[in-house]
Amino acid sequence: MAGMSSKKRCKGSLDTQEQDRDATEDFRDYMADVVSKGHTCLSIALGHELRLFDVLGDFDESKSCRVIAETAGCKEGYIKAWLRTMVSGKIVEVVENEKGETLFFLPKDRLSSLTSTENNLACLTRQVPIYSTVYPDVVRCVKKDGPNGVDYERFAALDVYWEETNKMMHNSRKHLSFILNQIPGLITQLGNGSCMVGIRENLAKSLLENGTTVCDVGCGPGHRANLIAGMFPNTKVTGIDISEETVAIAKTKADELMLPNVTFMSADGTSLPENWAETFGYVTMSDVIHHVKNQEKMLAEVHRILTPGGVFSLFDFDVHERLADNYGKPSASVMYAFNLLYDLPASLGDDGESGEGHGHHGEVFAHGHAPDDGHSGDDKKPETVLEGHSLEEVCEGFEKPMNILRKVGFEIEIKQIAETLECHIIATKKK
Ligand SMILES: C[S@@+](CC[C@H](N)C(=O)[O-])C[C@H]1O[C@@H](n2cnc3c(N)ncnc32)[C@H](O)[C@@H]1O
Repeated sequence: MAGMSSKKRCKGSLDTQEQDRDATEDFRDYMADVVSKGHTCLSIALGHELRLFDVLGDFDESKSCRVIAETAGCKEGYIKAWLRTMVSGKIVEVVENEKGETLFFLPKDRLSSLTSTENNLACLTRQVPIYSTVYPDVVRCVKKDGPNGVDYERFAALDVYWEETNKMMHNSRKHLSFILNQIPGLITQLGNGSCMVGIRENLAKSLLENGTTVCDVGCGPGHRANLIAGMFPNTKVTGIDISEETVAIAKTKADELMLPNVTFMSADGTSLPENWAETFGYVTMSDVIHHVKNQEKMLAEVHRILTPGGVFSLFDFDVHERLADNYGKPSASVMYAFNLLYDLPASLGDDGESGEGHGHHGEVFAHGHAPDDGHSGDDKKPETVLEGHSLEEVCEGFEKPMNILRKVGFEIEIKQIAETLECHIIATKKK
């Protein structure tokens, strides 16, 4: 018996060793995949920057490296190297002709993700090379005896990047239609009967087409508000933002677009005008709530300004509150890297002190340019994260606003938006 049990033990430990080896190998495969995808990501960024995907997309048939390089106005040797990374990264396809020549093509079903001006996912890869420019400085910051942060100006390229991706992704017509179509039964909830009943995809659109009132809280440079106003001329849109500077940009853009149905004003979303109670049929807030200290106050204000049955769309990072719940979640790894490589070093500045916070688009809060809107005095400090914030503060997760929304009297539904790594909390004000 003793012999048997030692044999069993032996077998057991062999199994365990085998399992350990499998797990080690699986992890090594995983690491190899991470490294490989990182390289592919950077190579896609290069292709996007040089418009190489557009060149490939314009061909009706597969082409040689020489033709592709000539058409793109690039050196053949470099294009050959680029095409190799694109083929091994499963982005570009390769065939051989009867002469044994290697030819390349971009399948049509990949064109919209790589070449179009709207929803072009290739543009998202550009964030990586931009981080790389400040990477050595961030490494120094992490060390105990290193500087606290990196001068905000060093991140200027990110502002340009966001402005472009914002228009291309978050505020493209295609994306807007997609997110509006995530709102089920918006028409009936808002009591607007004359719509295309039965065509669920068109419900939100129909409501806006028929005409309602919309408020974009924390509208930034006004892309979404202007887009909604342009797409739905019968709807009246109001964009508010705490930053006067940003509001001025939004107004100029609306004037250029000759949009009569949109207005912008500077206001603090945590204390909106008294007479706005039950004014708006639809309120939207994108990429704002994690900047705000007093989320309770802001979300209660949204509830107050909505009509009974009105709908609120809250967009923010698709990240859970508990770190363990974010294990393996792509949106979380992108956001945490963003915090590490940009948020923390930029908010801590380069002066060796805890610096001011900032808007992610390099808005007023950079370098403490507090908005000149009557909120800038100490006693009237806006309820926005103005102090140098910690990683925890900006990564709170969507559970917190969701719980607040329930508490203030909303019914909640949550949808993921894979492309933008956001979640869309659809909150309906109870009647
Ligand atoms: C990252 S930007 C997002 C802008 C826009 N919603 C978009 O998606 O492009 C955050 C915006 O929230 C605004 N903001 C921050 N706190 C605010 C507050 N308390 N009231 C109103 N706007 C606020 C900032 O000024 C900034 O324009």
